[in-house]
Amino acid sequence: MRIVEVGPRDGLQNEPGTVSTALKIAFIEELAGAGLPAVEAGAFVSPKWVPQMADTAEVMAALRRRAGTAYPVLVPNMAGFEAALAARVEEIAIFGAASESFSRKNINCSIAESLARFVPVMQAAKARGIRVRGYVSCVLGCPYEGEVAPTAVAEIAGKLLDMGCYEISLGDTIGVGTPARAQAMIDEVSARVPIARLAVHFHDTYGQALANILACLERGIAGIDSSAAGLGGCPYAKGASGNVATEDVVYMLDGMAIATGVDLAAVARAGWRVCAALGRTPASKVSLALKAKLPADGGH
Ligand code: HMG
Ligand code: MG
Repeated sequence: MRIVEVGPRDGLQNEPGTVSTALKIAFIEELAGAGLPAVEAGAFVSPKWVPQMADTAEVMAALRRRAGTAYPVLVPNMAGFEAALAARVEEIAIFGAASESFSRKNINCSIAESLARFVPVMQAAKARGIRVRGYVSCVLGCPYEGEVAPTAVAEIAGKLLDMGCYEISLGDTIGVGTPARAQAMIDEVSARVPIARLAVHFHDTYGQALANILACLERGIAGIDSSAAGLGGCPYAKGASGNVATEDVVYMLDGMAIATGVDLAAVARAGWRVCAALGRTPASKVSLALKAKLPADGGH
């Protein structure tokens, strides 16, 4: 099972508190040190849209990168790609949506326009040997349009695959999905995109993320996105919530004897440190349970 840690990007982009560049770097390095094979490190997006990601170039410049760990960054257009190139990134993620309204709100263009913007990005990435992951948002619901048809998800996921993405991550952006709907969506998408090329990205707004992940594992999904301490969500925005917590995912998989290569206690410690800086409590029951019994410094 391959876990993509998205806390430093998806988690921190939604936190009302600010984390210094130095702390972000330490967080990413700790997560990579915990054995996570991929740690999403930031986003080259407009700082007016997402101010929390404005220091991504500084983060990438100072980060001590481990051999064998991927540090993808989000790139919405060629301006973002040029910035990613300058930062010597080896992997990027492009992000589209299965809902027109969300596409407009998130990246200020239609789904068709977003795909057109991705074409030169994909070409430039291929020419430079940069790997590209693709995201589809709103796979189980849209905050503006409500239910989203699985066929719409399959269509955009298929297009991202055809463009050359090595993996497509299916995002339940607002965490409204339940297991049977998640399986139905995976069934539709995997008729178009091989299941081995799919990952799932659940936000835990309604507390369904772990159940949904298990349902998707039953379908053969082998890629999971998660966020240390369940970071993300805005306490001032009613109902908003972060990604499923990495600690919760790893604890469940450990219990099922499914190998991840991830050190649960090390992820928990990384989460505690960043939560202390943000002045918040981890949104992970596993993290809280471990906090009650593990020494914060690992006993060193
Ligand atoms: P726009 O305003 O339509 O862009 O935004 P524009 O091309 O008209 O340019 C406007 C200004 O932005 C210009 O600057 C550009 O230089 C600048 P100005 O002249 O006004 O000073 N600009 C940029 N600056 C930095 N980096 C760039 C860039 N591009 C243009 N790459 C744009 C379009 C896509 C840029 C904007 O809408 C944007 O940045 N959106 C990002 C939104 C975002 O990051 N959302 C969160 C990530 S997605 C997510 O969380 C979902 C996911 O987790 C999966 C899931 O859960 O579903 C992945
Ligand atoms: Mg997300």
